[in-house]
Amino acid sequence: MEGSVYTPGAGHSPPVLAGRDDLLRDWHLVLNGVAAVGRVRAQDMVLAGPRGVGKTAALTVFGGLAKDQGYEVVGLQAVSGQAGLVEALLQRARIRIADEAGPWKRARHAFERVGGVSLSVAGIGTGLAIRQPRATVPMTDAGNLAGALATLATEVRRDAPTGGLLVTIDEMQGASPADLALLAATLHRLNVDHPSAAVAFAGTGLPHTPETLRQAGVTHPDRLFALEPIPLTLAADDATYAVVEAARRVGVLWEPSAADAIATVSNGYPAHLQLFAHAAWTEATGPNRITLADVEAAIPKVAKQIEQRTLGPRWDRIHDRQMEFLAALALLGGRTSTAKVAIALNRSTKDLSWIRDALIAEGDIYAPKRGQIAMAVPLLRRYVLTHYEQSRPDAATPLLSLADMRRNVAGDGSLSTSDGGGSPGQGSS
Ligand SMILES: Nc1ncnc2c1ncn2[C@@H]1O[C@H](COP(=O)(O)OP(=O)(O)O)[C@@H](O)[C@H]1O
Ligand SMILES: [Mg+2]
Repeated sequence: MEGSVYTPGAGHSPPVLAGRDDLLRDWHLVLNGVAAVGRVRAQDMVLAGPRGVGKTAALTVFGGLAKDQGYEVVGLQAVSGQAGLVEALLQRARIRIADEAGPWKRARHAFERVGGVSLSVAGIGTGLAIRQPRATVPMTDAGNLAGALATLATEVRRDAPTGGLLVTIDEMQGASPADLALLAATLHRLNVDHPSAAVAFAGTGLPHTPETLRQAGVTHPDRLFALEPIPLTLAADDATYAVVEAARRVGVLWEPSAADAIATVSNGYPAHLQLFAHAAWTEATGPNRITLADVEAAIPKVAKQIEQRTLGPRWDRIHDRQMEFLAALALLGGRTSTAKVAIALNRSTKDLSWIRDALIAEGDIYAPKRGQIAMAVPLLRRYVLTHYEQSRPDAATPLLSLADMRRNVAGDGSLSTSDGGGSPGQGSS
């Protein structure tokens, strides 16, 4: 069938944002609280989770809800190597000031203080004024920036009394340490100097974002930001709902077994859910119906596509020791403790910590809780188990075989006694 409603691909807003009801309810309360009383009631949220779980999608909905309420939304993306946050903000100010009368224009002088530059209309559209700021923004002071944001929020509310200002940053872990420190200081100054300003903040980042913030010199990221973990997978009924409801709205029905099959094969991982559902829709001859046979025809094609486009390229450039670490993790079921991986590899957890950290920074694995690690992409486990032995001989350093790892795990008394229930080991079949 033509006209699939699904949205494979990073950053594409899904037709149905499943499994986020609690999160959105909290967000409504934040928007209301900030508009009613100001920073005092702000909860600067950071949605944290692995790639492909729907952080950007949720942040986009956050922005949409804010706009509906009359907020001005300033979305800044923190892609390293690009303009810094202040430059991006000033650029936005320039464009909005040029627009017409409005809150930005009335707050203009406050932003000029931040940048130490004139935000006059001259230079707009030439691109020149936008390139220069690196040199013209010497040292941005968090107090000035907080003042400008508070001023803008006040001006917004003169036009929209239930609104305010929402600043969002996608992919915070990619921002420069200086920008993160400035952001944290600015939010703090807003709390202290402008408690009644209607300024809200929401961001996203990979699970190690709090660590990145700490490394940038933010002393208590957990106090400043409310961390909202976005889990790797949706619950089975949320996954099925995301698939079925999106189609139902346009008059297309899924055979229940077909929708269940999508939830199972994608493991409820949102990025793959959209990919598989899209492929099954495209595969279906319809009309207005998607069957289990359609799903079964689509699965091998998508699995191959995922291997070729994401898993394969990553595997080909992975460091030997990281490959070995992933093999042990896969063998242990894809989610386990670092201590168990260390047993499988017959090394100390301390020895492995740099490998673990590198894999986390790459986004291959994440730490769902202290001492635990999990693969960030569900299909990676099967991929690793089927490719490891093939890749192992090419490694520059001798690596343990899966059989060696299995023996290490089996030979470890502490494991077999403490796990009397026999939970691990299921990965070895
Ligand atoms: N709650 C959800 N329900 C269904 N699909 C979702 C949901 N959130 C995101 N998606 C889909 O998952 C994919 C990844 O979403 P994205 O927001 O780009 O993830 P992230 O920013 O965490 O990497 C996109 O194809 C998107 O349409
Ligand atoms: Mg994203």
